[in-house]
Amino acid sequence: MDYFEYHDGKLRCEETAADELAARYGTPLYVYSQQTFTDHFQRMRAAFAELNPLFCFSIKSCQNVHICRVLHSLGSGFDVVSGGELYRALRAGADPAKIVFAGVGKTDRELREAFEARIGLFNIESESELEVFVEMARARQAPVDAALRVNPDVDPRTHKYTTTGKKETKFGVDLEQAAGIFRRHADCRPVRLRGIHLHIGSPVHELEPYRTSIERGVELLEQLRRDGFEVDTIDVGGGYGAHYRGGDAPTAADYAGVIVPLLRGRGLRVILEPGRSIAANAGIILTRVLHVKQSGRKRFVIVDAAMTELLRPALYGAYHFVWPVVAGECVPPTRVPEQPFDGLVECDVVGPVCESSDFLAQARPLPTLRRGDLLAVFGAGAYAMTMASQYNSRLRAAEVLVHGAATRLIRRRETYADLLAPEELESGCPVPFRPPPAADERGGGRT
Ligand code: LLP
Repeated sequence: MDYFEYHDGKLRCEETAADELAARYGTPLYVYSQQTFTDHFQRMRAAFAELNPLFCFSIKSCQNVHICRVLHSLGSGFDVVSGGELYRALRAGADPAKIVFAGVGKTDRELREAFEARIGLFNIESESELEVFVEMARARQAPVDAALRVNPDVDPRTHKYTTTGKKETKFGVDLEQAAGIFRRHADCRPVRLRGIHLHIGSPVHELEPYRTSIERGVELLEQLRRDGFEVDTIDVGGGYGAHYRGGDAPTAADYAGVIVPLLRGRGLRVILEPGRSIAANAGIILTRVLHVKQSGRKRFVIVDAAMTELLRPALYGAYHFVWPVVAGECVPPTRVPEQPFDGLVECDVVGPVCESSDFLAQARPLPTLRRGDLLAVFGAGAYAMTMASQYNSRLRAAEVLVHGAATRLIRRRETYADLLAPEELESGCPVPFRPPPAADERGGGRT
């Protein structure tokens, strides 16, 4: 599943001891395993090999440019949804032909930047966007490829906030409207409307929603072909699950088992946009216990990571396994909440942020913890750092990439200066920092 394992009672990332990483780089700290990224990517590629698809790693799941470089070196392209993500992909050395750009509200500037970069495919999400896009393409007089994102009205049976393939969500155009849009824009040169894009939600732990949406998509493409459109592309998006508990998501082979037969032999170029399935288990967060306190029946373990480092529990009630890095006799056999050890105490693992939703784990049986103990929060390679914030003026944490016994700082911890840098404007703000006067200047001793 990944390369975060306990050896002699202590957690390691590949061949590197997690407690040594925390000592060297401080906490909270994102730690990534390069081998896990590689394995997950290769497993996906092997499962779908028959279709020879283009894999476009979804940058929104894990955006560090050094990690994108690793994925690029494995042959991955990138799914981007903003000018910033496009910038990251290009700086990672991506082949622009392997970049796809989705998003319900691309700005003119973002479209322009993507035109200039000559990306491979624009995934267009509304007729209004298509009109603007065609106009821009005409002004540039350069051929450009696009696909229409179609909303297949399929329930992916995932969290409401990450459901995208149902009619009532803002994504793509209704299936029934799609053919009409193709017809109305039959002559949209120099834009080549080459096919469709689907992305129904994330994570999607059932296979049926993929089957239904792809069947609907293929039916639409066949109809378009019958109507004389030269369509040859289907981007089936992402949404493939990750093992937050172990065994909770279908494997790459399971997804391929449903998707490949639907697409083989159709003369279609296939694109996949996995994010979480590659990145989630490739990262953990290391965090130190600041305090432990009892409040009525509740025991709070207050740690130095918070919703600012991992928003998923607060936003979706998401489950992340949390366990001490130095576990001694209590090496967890699985990543599920029930642990077969005596003497565990039920705790809420919470951060220092001023919100009651600032928790990383709730009602979890954990070994006795003390100030200074180190915890690992698993499954934090995807949608963790990318959703991090500076709320409460917290500094975004550092990121470290481990490869065997080698470690590399791939993002430094932010500093107080980073907090104010964008606010240093000509208007004279912020006021220069003056340290508080020393005690004797204040004319007295310590109060
Ligand atoms: N393609 C498109 C167009 C997407 O919108 C997404 C994710 C993906 C691909 C990648 O999906 P994945 O393979 O990673 O499931 N913040 C949420 C997840 C939001 C996903 C948004 N779109 C979370 O933490 O669970």
